[in-house]
Amino acid sequence: MTTINRSGSSSDNGDEQRFMVDIITKKRDGGRLSNRDIEYFVQGVVDGVIPDYQTAALLMAIYWRGLGDDEVVSLTRSMAGSGVQLDLSDLPGIKVDKHSTGGVADTTSIILAPLAGAAGVRMAKMSGRGLGHTGGTIDKLESIPGFRVNFSVQEMIGLVQETGVAIVEQTDDLVPADRLLYALRDVTGTAPNIGLIASSVMSKKLAAGSDRILLDVKTGRGAFMPRWSDAVELAEVMVGIGESFGVQTVALLTNMEQPLGRRIGNSLEILEAMEVLSGHKKGELLELCLYLGAELLVLAGLAQSRREGAEKLEKCIASGAALDKFRQMVISQGGDGRIIEKPELLPLAERSYPFGSTGEGYIWSVETREMGQALANFGVGRAAQDKKVDPSLGVSLHKRLGDYVRKGDLLFEVAAHSEKDAGIIGAQLQKMYTFKPTAPEVSPIILGRVDSTGYHELTD
Ligand code: URA
Repeated sequence: MTTINRSGSSSDNGDEQRFMVDIITKKRDGGRLSNRDIEYFVQGVVDGVIPDYQTAALLMAIYWRGLGDDEVVSLTRSMAGSGVQLDLSDLPGIKVDKHSTGGVADTTSIILAPLAGAAGVRMAKMSGRGLGHTGGTIDKLESIPGFRVNFSVQEMIGLVQETGVAIVEQTDDLVPADRLLYALRDVTGTAPNIGLIASSVMSKKLAAGSDRILLDVKTGRGAFMPRWSDAVELAEVMVGIGESFGVQTVALLTNMEQPLGRRIGNSLEILEAMEVLSGHKKGELLELCLYLGAELLVLAGLAQSRREGAEKLEKCIASGAALDKFRQMVISQGGDGRIIEKPELLPLAERSYPFGSTGEGYIWSVETREMGQALANFGVGRAAQDKKVDPSLGVSLHKRLGDYVRKGDLLFEVAAHSEKDAGIIGAQLQKMYTFKPTAPEVSPIILGRVDSTGYHELTD
């Protein structure tokens, strides 16, 4: 049979199609895919010989039937091997990597790399751009004038040799299978499946070559996995994958019931990262960075306990070493280091427009996912992968869950190019808050921890 493959050229691939039908029906009927089936599927997707309709059918069968532990490991291995695999052995010491499953106002990577770097951690981090309701580390860093994100692997290693840390854009040849599969998952309603998410995340982390992996698995209204039980299962599956490849992996389960930081928007989030690194901003974002950073120090063998790690990091903030490491990272990647003393060099909107609360009472909920999506549509993020972001737009939030507000109290400020634009997005955001006369119970920022021995509640 002649089909049109991804590149648009015709090819005779009847045998491939027949074999793919067998794989699809096996999974559709609840069977277990062999290593060979999975290897064949992933290679066929990358080579463009499996048409999108068959890939989509298999993804849907996996969505409903799920993947067993051995299938997830096999899928991760095939995906990780679908492109280049980094060798970081030229860098001395234990290399650690960190990954967040995505949320709103989440600048932890931008804070953690220099913070942990100031305490001696070596981190060669590959990050992505924003998609859907979540922001992207690379988009945020690109709002720094001159900041470069495209580097070859050798250049990235050079950056880490120079300053200890680098955050660069994930190259196209790292796990190409994930790029192709993710794009199809996104448009076929098959993205939120634990086995598919776990293999997508872990294939990229394993191909990136670090010795230890720290995962920040978000749960709550603004997370990809809003339900607690799903988030715990995702964390367990990802830790299991890492360990089965001999890479020590730890996952923290963290709260995404409301935006993590108080600023949403690319330049605004860089500003907030600098406020945290300089010790001027306390709160949940700092708390989470200290916890994640302490885990990184333990994983890298630079602290005996999380307590010792957190103390080292607090000293790095107090001494200015963390902010200095951020400056070094910015300059070494071509950025303008003067933004630290002169944040007005960041592309920020000319004006901020204040918005008062339309309700009264304790803030019970914030529709975090909708907030991220509305801001993405406004221009903070991108509606599609090829769209540009506007780094100057965003919102600064003045109230948190559990705060008591009266009608008219300042709720947030919108950074926009005109009063009209601000009015449109401001009115949408005001509707995302729910108020009640009694105070809600607000959960802590860190909810649990998964390591090779399983799930643990936090004791410190
Ligand atoms: N992040 C990823 O890298 N992959 C997913 O599937 C979901 C979140």
